[in-house]
Amino acid sequence: MTVRKAWLVLAGLLLLLPASSGAGPAQRVVVLCSPNPAWCDAIKEEFPKATGIGLDYVRLSSGEGLARLRAERRNPSFDVWFGGTGDPHMVAFEEGLTEAYRPRSWNDLRPELREAVAGKYIPLYAGILGWALNERVLRERNAPVPRTWKDLADPRYRGLVAYPNPNTSGTGYTMLATLVQLYGEREAFDLLKQIHRNVAEYTRSGAAPGQLTGRGEVAVGITFIHDAVDQVLKGFPISYGAPRDGTGYEIGGLSLVKGGPNRAAAITFIEWALTPEAQRLGPEKGQSYQIPSNSKTPIPPVAPRFEAFRVIKYDFVKYGSAAVRDRLVKRWTDEVFPLPK
Ligand code: F6P
Repeated sequence: MTVRKAWLVLAGLLLLLPASSGAGPAQRVVVLCSPNPAWCDAIKEEFPKATGIGLDYVRLSSGEGLARLRAERRNPSFDVWFGGTGDPHMVAFEEGLTEAYRPRSWNDLRPELREAVAGKYIPLYAGILGWALNERVLRERNAPVPRTWKDLADPRYRGLVAYPNPNTSGTGYTMLATLVQLYGEREAFDLLKQIHRNVAEYTRSGAAPGQLTGRGEVAVGITFIHDAVDQVLKGFPISYGAPRDGTGYEIGGLSLVKGGPNRAAAITFIEWALTPEAQRLGPEKGQSYQIPSNSKTPIPPVAPRFEAFRVIKYDFVKYGSAAVRDRLVKRWTDEVFPLPK
């Protein structure tokens, strides 16, 4: 081979190398990230500093995340699913899209959370379902502060409620499953049909109703209470609470995607994400105020506490099964969503 030919071969080989070599960490993990985007940004910034491994993420709501994993079953692009409500993590496990992984910190995770998810995913945090309230808008419309889920059926709330769509949003599904557990399926669907008349907007994500409430576009936003806390801390004039007839909660998930492209980096990420140092990023940089799963991580002082609300004994295994979840969401989509307002 001539010298010129040898150079051409070398140049060709260099072109084939991944773009990341030389600049930045060579190893990467690809995260499906479902909490507040600020928290996704914080892990993207801090994980490489802690481990030397790069991180890319795509932010998707819980139901959207499940749809994406299902669509990519044969060729997964994600390594880990970070956050989002537990029900789609359970479905993903049942369908073989994720695999069981027992982290080193397992015994430090709050036992009540570990038991409730029955080993189908790793608990990352817990959060209570409730609502954000804009009392100025309520006063202007002569509507009282709601006390119960049933109050939301009152025609005085017409056009004043925002509710996340349970197809895309784990928050929306948590409300649907909460009403079924509180009242039984028939009564729950009757109630959802009445509330539907008052819904101004079905949002894609679970945090959006709190944002609409903060801007005064609606008066009642169904959301996890910690997302309403975020709006309060940002200075929006809202209050928050939970229905007195009982409310549900989430155990946010962390799952190892089966067959993902970077398994070793994914395991390093999972171990890191459960450390107190990483979990503190939620409140400190991620505008996220859930109760962290690691009992050694300090609970943010502003995090809504279970003792302050009437929280039901939520059956995560039943309402996280593919058959029950898919059937309830389909029933809502067929029977509630298309109804005239
Ligand atoms: O915004 C944070 C959060 O409420 C998480 O606690 C929760 O797991 C997730 O959003 C649910 O989002 P969505 O309802 O959009 O799926």
